Amino acid sequence: MADLLMVQKSIASPGRGILAIDESNATCGKRLASIGLENTEVNRQAYRQLLLTTPGLGEYISGAILFEETLYQSTTDGKKFVDCLRNEQIVPGIKVDKGLVPLPGSNNESWCQGLDGLASRSAEYYKQGARFAKWRTVVSIPCGPSALAVKEAAWGLARYAAISQDNGLVPIVEPEILLDGDHPIERTLEVAEKVWSEVFYYLAENNVVFEGILLKPSMVTPGAEHKEKASPETIAKYTLTMLKRRVPPAVPGIMFLSGGQSEVEATLNLNAMNQSPNPWHVSFSYARALQNTVLKKWQGRPENVEAAQKALLVRAKANSLAQLGKYSA
Ligand code: 13P
Repeated sequence: MADLLMVQKSIASPGRGILAIDESNATCGKRLASIGLENTEVNRQAYRQLLLTTPGLGEYISGAILFEETLYQSTTDGKKFVDCLRNEQIVPGIKVDKGLVPLPGSNNESWCQGLDGLASRSAEYYKQGARFAKWRTVVSIPCGPSALAVKEAAWGLARYAAISQDNGLVPIVEPEILLDGDHPIERTLEVAEKVWSEVFYYLAENNVVFEGILLKPSMVTPGAEHKEKASPETIAKYTLTMLKRRVPPAVPGIMFLSGGQSEVEATLNLNAMNQSPNPWHVSFSYARALQNTVLKKWQGRPENVEAAQKALLVRAKANSLAQLGKYSA
């Protein structure tokens, strides 16, 4: 347990957050297609190399979540990616869920696979250098959510968290409440409270040590198709209300996902959340909100790598300042 606490402390350190680059091969393919590249292992490796070898990244980034393929890859000159991260004091993490499939008996909702064989996979990932894990499941507001889908999401997260801790990995607990829908922010708050209360109920039933987990929640916002947008102050108010009602202070870190927000929105919202002291370290674990501009700058061309890495540092630094509540646009 002492190890878990040390890892978690280093991830939840002031002014730093997580770079999520754990897109499955299919999702990474979509990102590559957006700049006209084929979804090959060579292209995925080149893109991940660009991100993971950005000089100075460790000043703002404390952890990087990798997909299984990336955990075992090296740079083109033979340095293991996990060693590149360690040199920057960045903790390597691993996505361990096996993705979403339809949930029979629900309202067109899904559940997350991956518990079978998870203990042995986790032990292997640990040997390879991973020190934390991530399991992402989703809840859809327009589809209900049904009681069955919420219970299944919460139970799966709790079983995964217990197995991760048993194998020396700090589990990131991520029930993503999707942005889709035209509902108001009050409805998101209601659903988020329900989801997190079930998640903590089952985490406790499974004897998960709260001091050794990290959360990856969605921010509480109106649905993406709602007629009015909410200000960062409103989003921060609703999100912190939800967290204070549902998340024990024993949990060390809250690392938000960006969920389709623009890069600047995600930074402003995080900054608003850090305008007053919180019981937890409130930070980021962004994928799209750290990578969108990087991809556009890169375009798959070696001569653009430096400019793309600079773009990553710009976003990483902005979110680092937002973690400290000191960002201004
Ligand atoms: P986004 O920040 O793009 O929502 O991704 C979050 C995530 O779960 C990837 O680990």
